[in-house]
Amino acid sequence: LREHEEFTKVKNIATIELGRYEIETWYFSPFPPEYNDGLKLYFCEFCLNFMKRKEQLQRHMRKCDLKHPPGDEIYRSGTLSMFEVDGKKNKVYGQNLCYLAKLFLDHKTLYYDVDLFLFYVLCECDDRGCHMVGYFSKEKHSEESYNLACILTLPPYQRKGYGKFLIAFSYELSKKEGKVGTPERPLSDLGLLSYRGYWTRVLLDILKKHKGNISIKELSDMTAIKAEDILTTLQSLELIQYRKGQHVICADPKVLDRHLKAAGRGGLEVDVSKLIWTPYK
Ligand code: ACO
Ligand code: ZN
Repeated sequence: LREHEEFTKVKNIATIELGRYEIETWYFSPFPPEYNDGLKLYFCEFCLNFMKRKEQLQRHMRKCDLKHPPGDEIYRSGTLSMFEVDGKKNKVYGQNLCYLAKLFLDHKTLYYDVDLFLFYVLCECDDRGCHMVGYFSKEKHSEESYNLACILTLPPYQRKGYGKFLIAFSYELSKKEGKVGTPERPLSDLGLLSYRGYWTRVLLDILKKHKGNISIKELSDMTAIKAEDILTTLQSLELIQYRKGQHVICADPKVLDRHLKAAGRGGLEVDVSKLIWTPYK
């Protein structure tokens, strides 16, 4: 609790400028001390370097030649692109992204070594460049089968389906790896809501189409969602009964329809045919 208070107590940066947005921050972030005295920070939207004065940013923009995150474009569909940035090859970018993200993440400590992470940065692209919408990070090697460490949709882009897209993307990567995955804990309230929504939709879609019995293991193999997450999701929807020492999924079509309606629909789907990626080795 003490640690939590320390991190949430003093919000050091009140607003940031990023691309065409001015964004109010939510939480403390451990910027180097010389950046802490101003109320506002100016970010280069492409390399994520940050500055204390507008004139510094303007000067920077004249010489910064990046127009997208540094790294490989691994997905493109319409104006939406995903870039994979290796924290080891782009250390400063990884650190800048962590500083930026911490402004909107409460109980995450982001002081790990960026070397150990890959950053998946989602962008909306136009003729001026690729503008970051959000991102998630992923450990190169996770002992705990985490397929996502931190997820963020920048506030101006929130509640438009990008969060669901990022979550779906993280599971598509897990499927390509042939592994099940789960997000690192703890989840924030918004994180939990988004995951619950994603898990519910994916699982109910399958249950609706599937004829006959299906086990949690089979659902996990199909979706790369960890069995525990499937169990808690179906339990919260009251679709699980415990019979003779076994969990049994009871998928009454009427009940499924009711839950599916409540879960809503998201427009942004991941088109797997447009993902060009091989797992990190
Ligand atoms: N109020 C109520 N429900 C919400 C809200 C909100 N403000 N935001 C998201 N939701 C729920 C809704 O159920 C929504 O589905 P719906 O729109 O169909 O009803 C669902 O979450 C997902 O909405 P998206 O638009 O796809 O998600 P968004 O792009 O807003 O991103 C995210 C969600 C990433 C959690 C965002 O809120 C965010 O960046 N929050 C700050 C950082 C954070 O808390 N990250 C998660 C930490 S946990 C971790 O990193 C492992
Ligand atoms: Zn720059």
